[in-house]
Amino acid sequence: MVALDPKSKDEVTLFISNDIQDEKFREEIVADGWHTANFPQDFPKNGECPPPGIYLLHENTFLSEFTGLLDRLFLIPQHHPIVVVGSRINQEYLVDLFGKRPFFHLPEIDRFKKLHKCLKSAFNALEKGAIKEDYERKLERMNYEIGELHSIGIALSAEKDPTKLLELILTKSRVITQADAGSLFLNESNTRLKLKLSQNDTLDWQTSGDVPIAIDDKSIAGYVAMTGQSLDILDVYLIPKSFPYSFNLSFDNQSGYRSRSMLVVPIKNQEGEVLGIIELINKRKDFVTRKPGEPLKNENIIPFTKKDRDLLSSLASQAAISIENNRLIHDIQRLFEGFVKASVTAIEARDPTTSGHSERVAAMTVALAETVGKLDEGPYGYLSFNKTTLTEIRYASLLHDFGKVGVREEILVKAKKLFPWELDALQSRLAYIRKSMEADFYRKSLDYAVKYGLERYLAIQKSFEANFKTSLDELEEILDFLTSANEPTILEEGNFQRLLEIAQRRFIDTDGREINLLTDREAHVLSIRKGSLSEAERLEIESHVTHTFNFLSKIPWTRDLNRVPEIALAHHEKLNGRGYPNHLAAESIPMESRLLTICDIYDALTAQDRPYKRAIPHQKAFDIMHNEVKQGLLDSYLLETFIGAKIYKVIETPLFNEGRNLRS
Ligand SMILES: [Fe+2]
Ligand SMILES: [Fe+2]
Repeated sequence: MVALDPKSKDEVTLFISNDIQDEKFREEIVADGWHTANFPQDFPKNGECPPPGIYLLHENTFLSEFTGLLDRLFLIPQHHPIVVVGSRINQEYLVDLFGKRPFFHLPEIDRFKKLHKCLKSAFNALEKGAIKEDYERKLERMNYEIGELHSIGIALSAEKDPTKLLELILTKSRVITQADAGSLFLNESNTRLKLKLSQNDTLDWQTSGDVPIAIDDKSIAGYVAMTGQSLDILDVYLIPKSFPYSFNLSFDNQSGYRSRSMLVVPIKNQEGEVLGIIELINKRKDFVTRKPGEPLKNENIIPFTKKDRDLLSSLASQAAISIENNRLIHDIQRLFEGFVKASVTAIEARDPTTSGHSERVAAMTVALAETVGKLDEGPYGYLSFNKTTLTEIRYASLLHDFGKVGVREEILVKAKKLFPWELDALQSRLAYIRKSMEADFYRKSLDYAVKYGLERYLAIQKSFEANFKTSLDELEEILDFLTSANEPTILEEGNFQRLLEIAQRRFIDTDGREINLLTDREAHVLSIRKGSLSEAERLEIESHVTHTFNFLSKIPWTRDLNRVPEIALAHHEKLNGRGYPNHLAAESIPMESRLLTICDIYDALTAQDRPYKRAIPHQKAFDIMHNEVKQGLLDSYLLETFIGAKIYKVIETPLFNEGRNLRS
């Protein structure tokens, strides 16, 4: 309610209750200079604010059962005095009824002198009350503004999304200063601002963008950014030509909008650096009752006040902190993304054959988590993942194999049972044995011929040569057998026996040295029944999970992301407890790891570039994975979701592959 400050009787209405019907009495009052009205019929209805007034009421108003009238009394502002006329009413009753409201009791109606004095006192009380109310109103408004600034500060510091933060800053700036329109600019470099956001209630319009504006004294925003000084302009159309800056009319010309009053405030950080600009247009008298889209009347546009400038400056300094914090968070995120990318590059540089594995697994795992999180039914209907938990899953997936940097490269890329140099050594040894056998054969032939003569030698030469050829053939056959045993295919039982026999074979060379056909290491490795890795090598490969965990555990993750190491650690665990490294039981394997495991296995099976196995088609991979479900290794529901929702397709899209190329 707005109370006027009554400067004179002219501004005060004397409401007289209907019960006071003495005409002479009324005439005397008018003659005394009072502006009168009837109560209750002239009292404003529908909650309108009554004018400054004094109420001259007959005691019957309070003594009668007419409660409707009493109810109306409570609508009279608290500082408007009431004069009660009549001798029957009890003073104590009035004290109780009116509380702190100024009131006067006039027992006799026909003593005008007393009434005159009484009304004079009431007038003084009204004046004092008006001043008091004005102070109270100002205090209330101030408290409201402080409260608003406080809650704006809280809202600004809580907003993490940069786009929403800018929207919040501009909206709150307009609300607190009652501005119809406004724009927010950010300082992108020392020479250029960018218009990020504009709002306009009259046009019911908001737009965001990146329109560049030079920081110079030509434009209003550029001038404020350059000088760091606020501008408060009464009418932007009347900026003198002698001023360096001018108002750009193009928007008004295109839209038909009329910009008039303008308040422009820089957003400065503690060092005084200008981070951006808030530009507000047209303070509205009717801001509270405005309806977006309705034309703004000229008479409702008023100038911004000094208080608006102070409030906006205060909001701008809070905005500066939020913008800087937001930028800092964004920079940290970018820094961390860069670190993760560098780590992925390091894994792939170490093990180029799994190039792209980490990113493919991450893309599929996030897609699978999103799909599973949206399901309302099924065993995981309760699960949901938000932006942060999806980021956690993404980082765990990208880095799940990072520990491979701690595994020897030759083991990572080992395609056959023997390392290439081991096979070379074996082949060289057999070639040496062959040469030794040849030398032995020729020496023995010569010895025979010398001892028994050429004729006898020629007689047995064929049998000599046949024996020699048999030995060579056998050696050749051994080499062929060992070459095939070196392949990572399943070693049959008979071949295992044969390998043991070969391992027992010795050869005496021309110098009389005994040579084993196979070293212990060769015999051990070639007798691997499946795959290319010995037990020790397999354990070394498996240790990558522990290396990953140790590495990830050293990173001081934020609270939101602190489960990354735990998720990555469990990516080789199996539901039946036969996984590694901790042989976790199903219920102990994190859900995120189960998602990761499905995608990891799928990619390992279908990847095109692994040296130790050929890529297999989708369907074959699904068959193998279904078989693993039957063995109790994998989560059946997650696998069916992976297949049913075609999660594997996300790595086949051009967008994914383009993104990878851009990142690499
Ligand atoms: Fe792994
Ligand atoms: Fe992997």
